[in-house]
Amino acid sequence: MPVQYIIGEWDFRDITVKLVPPIFIPRPETEILVDFVLKRLNSSQLDSCEILEIGCGSGAISLALAHACKKIKCTAIDASPYACDLTVTNRNNLNLTNRITVIHATLKPDATVEISKILNGASDVNLNSRSFDFVVSNPPYVPTKNIPKLQSEIKIYEDLRALDGGDDGLKVIKPLLKYTARVLKPGGRLFLEVDPTHPEYIQFFTNKYPDFKLHHEHTYKDFCNNDRFVEVVKAA
Ligand SMILES: C[S@@+](CC[C@H](N)C(=O)[O-])C[C@H]1O[C@@H](n2cnc3c(N)ncnc32)[C@H](O)[C@@H]1O
Repeated sequence: MPVQYIIGEWDFRDITVKLVPPIFIPRPETEILVDFVLKRLNSSQLDSCEILEIGCGSGAISLALAHACKKIKCTAIDASPYACDLTVTNRNNLNLTNRITVIHATLKPDATVEISKILNGASDVNLNSRSFDFVVSNPPYVPTKNIPKLQSEIKIYEDLRALDGGDDGLKVIKPLLKYTARVLKPGGRLFLEVDPTHPEYIQFFTNKYPDFKLHHEHTYKDFCNNDRFVEVVKAA
């Protein structure tokens, strides 16, 4: 069993999150994704920042962002009700209840979001018409053919729906790009963790669909020098 599940908690940047199998264990490289979002926010003129996280798992990304910067309010969604419950527990433990809304909701293949349950009691959340300054996601992106190559402790204990991105690893990323194009404010930004084969596709996508007004701005590398993070900007 992964040590994170045995201990029942793990550090992510400067927060500690409770972890329960089979909810995805936050990986150290995802801390880099959080750093990019914070750096971009610090260099922007924004007085406040509304962020949508798609696929929050334990809540690590949204909670680390809100913990690091008081300007940030996050809406965190996940298709797994257990992940949403864990994000709520972690949010309450970190006293971030006022700035994190957790919604059990699924990004569908047709690029709409279907809400199952809002966990804060807020009733007026329409995720298909709201707009956000930033969208951030570490979606399932492992191509299905690579799943058997994962370490057995991952395959046995973690929910593979958090990892398996379908044949090309883009099953969630394709609708995510289309959905994000609709909900980002002009000048807003998308920060994504991806498989190293994906930045090229994302560049192709943004060129192929100019009506979405998305522009691939940067690809960043992880600790192992793999292309791992993509920053996309919506035209102002
Ligand atoms: C790789 S995990 C990332 C979890 C967390 N953000 C992190 O970095 O530790 C991906 C998460 O996306 C969720 N997910 C998968 N498909 C989804 C979909 N279509 N809509 C919403 N969430 C989804 C999974 O349940 C899982 O919690």
